[in-house]
Amino acid sequence: MPNPNVTLTAADRSVTLPLVEGSQGPSCVDISSLYRETGHFTFDPGFAATASCKSAITFIDGEKGVLLYRGYPIEQLAERSSFLEVAYLLLEGELPTEAEMTKFEHSVTHHTMMHESLKNFLRGFHYDAHPMAMLCASIASLSAFYHDTLDIQDPDQRRLAAIRLLAKMPTIAAASYRYSIGWPIRYPRNSLGYVDRFLHMMFEVPSEPLELNPVVAEALDLLFILHADHEQNASTSTVRLVGSTGANPYASVAAGIAALWGPAHGGANEAVLKMLTEIGDAKNVGRAIERAKDKQSGFRLMGFGHRVYKNFDPRARIIRAKCHEVLHKLGIHDPLLEVALKLEEAALKDDYFIEHKLYPNVDFYSGIIYKALRIPTEMFTVMFAIARTAGWIAHWIEQHEMPGGRIGRPRQVYVGATPREYVALDKR
Ligand code: SDX
Repeated sequence: MPNPNVTLTAADRSVTLPLVEGSQGPSCVDISSLYRETGHFTFDPGFAATASCKSAITFIDGEKGVLLYRGYPIEQLAERSSFLEVAYLLLEGELPTEAEMTKFEHSVTHHTMMHESLKNFLRGFHYDAHPMAMLCASIASLSAFYHDTLDIQDPDQRRLAAIRLLAKMPTIAAASYRYSIGWPIRYPRNSLGYVDRFLHMMFEVPSEPLELNPVVAEALDLLFILHADHEQNASTSTVRLVGSTGANPYASVAAGIAALWGPAHGGANEAVLKMLTEIGDAKNVGRAIERAKDKQSGFRLMGFGHRVYKNFDPRARIIRAKCHEVLHKLGIHDPLLEVALKLEEAALKDDYFIEHKLYPNVDFYSGIIYKALRIPTEMFTVMFAIARTAGWIAHWIEQHEMPGGRIGRPRQVYVGATPREYVALDKR
């Protein structure tokens, strides 16, 4: 049995710290007594080696490229599940029985409408507002409409808020997009499934009925599954940090949307498509690789690299295969796919990318599929947010159901001015 403790020696002091073991993955040194016993903090910018919480939702092994949702491999869920079933799994911890799934689906379906006043709220935006700005603001505003789900101590209110967020995210996302292109907002159709309902709200126009394409719906459902959760990524950690203050679920998830928007995180899928468009042709790939290796250039290969995966992102493998299948089935030849394949091939052979263990991540190919599904580029990160809502609400509920939760409040290494006397204006 390995020693359940570690001993740290700092100058003349030694301290023994307990190891915290999970069900799998690295054990963690519990440093909660470190400052009290040694007067030292730990320093881990970006929290690369710091566990912020215990969680039973998602497990990632970055070295082996393993991703499990509640213990189920992402490859099996991608192959055999649906996004709504995965949302149930993330939320409840088990795959639903048929009766549980029917009840869950009915509940989500009957919470898809958004409050009519939200239409006025959206009208307050300029027509060219980015849909992520509209989504973030609209989700935060839900606390102004749904006062019956603001008591975070009440498990029923927590669950209803989670269902509302899962149900309304596509409605508000589609409404934001329709507003930005001057089309009338479409109400959710209860007769449709989760993904078809979203596509209908996005693309149906008054002048003609929308013919839903099963290839499109199936591809989108897969993308939603792959983006549904990912352990303590930046946006989920944001939701948990905001949630740790006792903030309501709508404010917590709105904060997650804001964090996801950054190009280093969920905004990367939009940035990848812009990068591929800028590269333009496979013959320019070599120059792009050289720019990405030149620190002075400020240019990074978007869709490459990951804080945790130092091997292939398993989601990228699945999306890459789906890319070929979707483009073939829809009869689309997208030259950007050729550029992406050439870029991947060149990068994976390049010493810099090999040494830095930079592989394509979930965002590298997703944009090409979204483009084939006629999703506008500025909606790519919104798609990520719709899917990640399942993970955000699962983590938000878990943190409130797991005993011992405390407000998140990291410390710092202070590098500012040491104490000094105030100087009167006429003496400066
Ligand atoms: C997502 O956390 C999650 O799980 C996120 C996510 C999820 O599902 O929630 O998986 C979704 O956000 C995927 C990542 C999408 N972002 C991008 O594709 C943007 C491009 N990638 C990088 O910005 C970067 O790789 C990150 C942000 C993803 C990871 O950043 P890290 O772990 O802090 O790594 P780093 O920035 O410290 O880079 C380490 C080294 C540096 O070189 P050195 O200074 O050590 O010599 O690798 C280099 C970097 O310059 N590097 C890159 C690079 N990514 C890292 N060089 C060129 N191109 C890149 N893309």
